[in-house]
Amino acid sequence: MKKIFLKLSKQPITNSYLTNLNKKNLEKEFFYNLNVSFDTKLFLVSLSKPINPKKQYTNKYAHRASESKTMKAAFKNICQIFKKRFNPKKILEIGSNDGVFLSNFSKKDIIAVEPCKNLASITNKIGYKTYSNFWNIKNAKKIIKQNSKFDLIFSANTISHIPNLEEAFKSIYISLNTDGIFVFEDPYIGSVLKMNSYDQFYDEHVHLFSLLSIKKILEKYKLKIFDVELLTTHGGSIRFYVCKDKSKIKISPNVNILYLKEIRLGLNKFQTYKSFSSRVKKSKKKLLTLLKKLNKNKKKIISYGATYKSTTIFNYCNIDNKLIDYVSDTTKNKQGKFTPGKHLPIYPQSKNISKDVDYAFLGAWNFLDEIKKKEKSFLSRGGKFITHVPKVRVISK
Ligand code: TMP
Repeated sequence: MKKIFLKLSKQPITNSYLTNLNKKNLEKEFFYNLNVSFDTKLFLVSLSKPINPKKQYTNKYAHRASESKTMKAAFKNICQIFKKRFNPKKILEIGSNDGVFLSNFSKKDIIAVEPCKNLASITNKIGYKTYSNFWNIKNAKKIIKQNSKFDLIFSANTISHIPNLEEAFKSIYISLNTDGIFVFEDPYIGSVLKMNSYDQFYDEHVHLFSLLSIKKILEKYKLKIFDVELLTTHGGSIRFYVCKDKSKIKISPNVNILYLKEIRLGLNKFQTYKSFSSRVKKSKKKLLTLLKKLNKNKKKIISYGATYKSTTIFNYCNIDNKLIDYVSDTTKNKQGKFTPGKHLPIYPQSKNISKDVDYAFLGAWNFLDEIKKKEKSFLSRGGKFITHVPKVRVISK
């Protein structure tokens, strides 16, 4: 049974940056109720009513994974580990974005599937065969027919975006060699609870996984987890190592250790999520109190990083440009546009935060270390960051 524990108000599609605020665009803007449920049987946390992926993964998809140095380095590192640990000959990536992962492999060893046409054309242009398709049984069959089955399938921040997990995992099963390995990583519900990072809920994050939930689900599709890791990327992610249930691969002790930890944390209990929901309400109140106080004291506040996560915050907390002047972002195709729902203007991120800014709200709080290094002079001259994780606070030098 699915039970709602969190209501994050009406929200727009996070990837729909408005090019201008004319009447037509404003009338056309799509909103939905962002409610989050807990499945008491599968222990899975998901959006109550996911929206149609065709509305989200269009040829105008804005996010570029290789914009972040942190993610580039993380993918380079994991590719080296995969080569050593599994020595895969045939690799498939699901959700390749702009090629930040696949570019670490030779073009003959890896192919990709990416539904956003604008992204698939980036990697096709540089010579990596990329199918511009959604990941489902029909397309998986087409891909293995035209290529072969795979030794390694990798997917980062994509499986949690797929409403129909049954279809996704069945497609994985038929695409793997007998001893093939499937590795996927997505934001971790354990970190969301710990960090109070309710902004991890937005239209694309249809599910927030735990080990408990994925273990139960995979069992239904003849797959099993043989290793698991918790990662710091994206504000706390979980990486699952999966094989076919008949595989002889040794199961790492990490699996049982995390399993017991999640039971201790109550990730299988509805009440855990209800308590989280009350912490979220308190966080909203505190953030608004802080921003309103600073605003009254004539402080100039901007937001750093036009992230999808910050769309949830701005719309849930009702933060518009009465409180925050503008958002800065390094991504070229977000610049000059307006944030979804609250319509804050997005400006390019100049080398350093402009001199007249007193406070920068961290839309990209998951890159705090990278940002602090870049913005040393802002902090030195008395500039401060604001974040809501793990609690609402001001970060100074
Ligand atoms: P993500 O959290 O979904 O990866 O998005 C990060 C966004 O933040 C992306 O639009 C790029 C932006 N960003 C900056 O503008 N400046 C930075 O220094 C960093 C690290 C990210």
